[in-house]
Amino acid sequence: MDTVTAIETRRSVKHFDPQHRMSEQETDELMRLAMLSPTAFNIQHWRFVLVRDAALRERIRAVTWMQPQITDASLLIVLCADLDAWRKQPERYWRDVSPEVQEGVVQAIDTYYAGRGQVQRDEAMRSCGIAAQTLMLAAKAMGYDSCPMDLSDLDEVGKLINLPHDHVVAMFVAIGKGIREPWPRAGQLLASEVVVTDRFA
Ligand SMILES: Cc1cc2nc3c(=O)[nH]c(=O)nc-3n(C[C@H](O)[C@H](O)[C@H](O)COP(=O)(O)O)c2cc1C
Repeated sequence: MDTVTAIETRRSVKHFDPQHRMSEQETDELMRLAMLSPTAFNIQHWRFVLVRDAALRERIRAVTWMQPQITDASLLIVLCADLDAWRKQPERYWRDVSPEVQEGVVQAIDTYYAGRGQVQRDEAMRSCGIAAQTLMLAAKAMGYDSCPMDLSDLDEVGKLINLPHDHVVAMFVAIGKGIREPWPRAGQLLASEVVVTDRFA
């Protein structure tokens, strides 16, 4: 499937075939593609929690407005981020470049993030959002449907997945075989409202 078709046909699917199982190879391929998503300074701070335990899915669903995607999707991915990844041996994010380049980037990472908690968090959310879209488009290209989700008590979800203290939960992506047509698109805004040239009026 070409990229334009994947973008045009991806929809947020609410009902998945609960019997369908995704193979390990397909799951590995999805994760390989997700991990090619861009991150600032190549920090790769996303952490993808694949929730396979049915009982855990039920408990997550209970704090996620009882949405059926949580339990019925073939794959439920909780996208989290390590807020401190920027200072955890950052040289490994640049291990394949020359020592001079590596040293320069590591210094720049420290300069950019040190003492800037809001920037660290914003960056984590950006990265997870981009990775989520990669997952959804890759899933579409592999013949699957998906749903991005965040209507949830994310603090409770964090407790359920033993989220480390320096990580955040950004959102979920549910992936599987859709069994109902999505509703027609709800109401797309016009480009004249959302596309701005140079500066706001
Ligand atoms: C960050 C985010 C969170 C969302 N949370 C939910 C959710 O919890 N449940 C749900 O059914 N859809 C959720 N959606 C899907 C949106 O409702 C959907 O993307 C929007 O209505 C546009 O429809 P489309 O994705 O089919 O084009 C979410 C989407 C995003 C981007």
